Amino acid sequence: MMRQVASFFDPVTATVSHVIHAGIGTACAIVDPVLDYDNRSGRTATSSADRIVEYVESHQLQVQWLLETHAHADHVSAAPYLRGKLGGRIAIGERIRDVQMLFGQVYNIRKTPYGIARDFDHLFGPDEEFMIGELPARAWHVPGHTPADTAYLVEDVVFVGDTLFMPDVGTARCDFPGGDASTLYRSIQRILALPASTQLYLCHDYPPSTRGQAAWSCSVEEQRTGNVHVRHGIAENEFIAMRKARDATLDFPVLMLPAVQLNIRAGNLPQPEDNGVRYLKIPLDLL
Ligand SMILES: [Fe+2]
Repeated sequence: MMRQVASFFDPVTATVSHVIHAGIGTACAIVDPVLDYDNRSGRTATSSADRIVEYVESHQLQVQWLLETHAHADHVSAAPYLRGKLGGRIAIGERIRDVQMLFGQVYNIRKTPYGIARDFDHLFGPDEEFMIGELPARAWHVPGHTPADTAYLVEDVVFVGDTLFMPDVGTARCDFPGGDASTLYRSIQRILALPASTQLYLCHDYPPSTRGQAAWSCSVEEQRTGNVHVRHGIAENEFIAMRKARDATLDFPVLMLPAVQLNIRAGNLPQPEDNGVRYLKIPLDLL
């Protein structure tokens, strides 16, 4: 059976979630699902995730994995919601422990033993191999945007997370705690060394006005020849200088403070307080 990828674009956060499987009735993995979160009202909703539930159910798929490419700063993960509805194991790269340490200090929740709190069901070691039903897969450690970024290689496709964006958009920012442009450049070179026809599936798209329509898939060859930040011929020091200059102009993502404190806990919401309401923490005058 041929592997198939279905992608779901959330226009509110510009995030793309993916489902990969080998046909009707097979096992699947869900990559980077989105929980809707309204920053003004503090309300969560599941309309984005429910599109995935509908797809999984209509294709009679068995969810084996809920794969996070990193602790996202722009949306809250719907992995716990989907695990509750559909099953599967929530997994991320093992360097998430570094991100938990870094942001544990930001939120002053470092005493919570995240690593052993079973927030994630599985932490992938570097280049760990695993299966999605009959589909062979690997988790590549591709740090730079954050220390824990993981790309998932499944047969001839790769879910690249926040490393590469579409060629006309470029690459992910490297100015979050633990981010590093040189490290990202090297991670990207590893992806670009894959066979030219390898199809890459992205985590975000911010289409420029010259394109208009959102897109989330392209080949290694298209990135090598056309990526505005890292196409063939752009040296590491040029990339670092560009990335630093550009990152200095970027604001924090709108949902960074709500999202990261949840996503370092695999998207699990905090326990309700004695009035039954869950609360988030916002550090003042720190970042
Ligand atoms: Fe990100």
